[in-house]
Amino acid sequence: MQAPRSLDVEFVRSQFPAFESPGNAGECFFDNAAGSYACAHTIEALGDFYTHTKVQPYSPGGPSAAAGEKMDRARQRWAEALGVATDELVFGPSTSMNTYVLSQAFAPLLGPGDDVIVTNQDHEANTGSTRRMAERAGCTLLEWRTDPTTGLLDLDEFESMLTPRTRLVTVPHASNIVGKENDVARICELAHAVGARVIVDGVSFVPHGIPDVGALGADVYLFSLYKVYSVHQGVMVVRRDLMDELPNQSHFFNDSVPSARMNPAGPDHAQVACSAAVLDYVELLHRHHGGDPAAALRTACAVVSALWQAHEDDLTPRLLDAVAGNDHVRLLGPATLDATAGHRCPTIGLAPTWMEPDALVRALVEQGVQTSSGHFYGWRCLEGMGVDPQRGAVRLSFVHYTTVDEVDRVVDALDDIAG
Ligand SMILES: Cc1ncc(COP(=O)(O)O)c(C=O)c1O
Repeated sequence: MQAPRSLDVEFVRSQFPAFESPGNAGECFFDNAAGSYACAHTIEALGDFYTHTKVQPYSPGGPSAAAGEKMDRARQRWAEALGVATDELVFGPSTSMNTYVLSQAFAPLLGPGDDVIVTNQDHEANTGSTRRMAERAGCTLLEWRTDPTTGLLDLDEFESMLTPRTRLVTVPHASNIVGKENDVARICELAHAVGARVIVDGVSFVPHGIPDVGALGADVYLFSLYKVYSVHQGVMVVRRDLMDELPNQSHFFNDSVPSARMNPAGPDHAQVACSAAVLDYVELLHRHHGGDPAAALRTACAVVSALWQAHEDDLTPRLLDAVAGNDHVRLLGPATLDATAGHRCPTIGLAPTWMEPDALVRALVEQGVQTSSGHFYGWRCLEGMGVDPQRGAVRLSFVHYTTVDEVDRVVDALDDIAG
């Protein structure tokens, strides 16, 4: 893999029409963890699909065949990007829906005497339906808890929870409040050593790096494309050997169609077809930064992810220092990039100590910082750190298209309001 040059942020921003929208003029967008801007490739692909191929796909010839080809190509491209096979990829309406269907599929495989491990660091989408399923099945539910001060998960603790009874583990690749990447490869290695399956929620991580899911070792890997500069659609990788074990959740005649078995709904044709346009953007970035145009898509994803993360790492400490050094707010999560190994995603949760979170958000919005407050469906994560989820927290989240000037504006605004 070739060494990346630093990210050309001006070029990056030229690929996101939202920056040209009059409504966004003068605004700094810091609510990316809720949903990112879409890149121009995504927007153009959607317009093109709805204009030229918005018909029932897969009939022979004409627009219908073209629609089907676009859907197949998108599946092929995402499989290549993630390092998995095309029939291991499931498109569903959202990650919450995908995890719900998945838990229905796991239910008949589990029963009394089986342990299921969940965390309290997860977004509720990756824990709620699994918890309910495990309880209904009569399993023992174990919670791998975060450190109340740092919000981090400790691998040694996880290791001590594993036994031959452990059948299923659900973990986040990164928390949507604490922002730190968990060592998923090691978690999978440890869980597999006792014969357990691992479900990884990658929703908060993938906007910062497109992972080699094959290399990570997860049995199931999920993420939401609307946070990855793309359409509102969930992607779920289910590795083939597990897919073969799980009972079909779709119509009986779909039992032998791996891509359909875990989606009881009909796919959203347009969104599936346009889901991979963001990968054209990734390849464009790769070429723009000197990458070989003939490189494999997986290579382009790895190089561009490294560029994104290096850029984020340049900016994140400015915001972390401002939050950690402010006596009127409590930083939720690690204050430095290297508190533990793994990427410190710039998803920065904070709990104000002297004003209500929604009041702080209103004040920030008045200064042109778009952000939000609440529990972010990370109810248990906030509780684990002693933060009242009903009161909630504030989240400042950015991605690779954010500039240093924007971060400085947020730092100044925070200082002005809560300094
Ligand atoms: C970490 C995490 N997991 C899961 C979800 C749920 O994703 P979806 O909105 O696609 O159901 C979210 C959404 O915010 C999230 O941040």
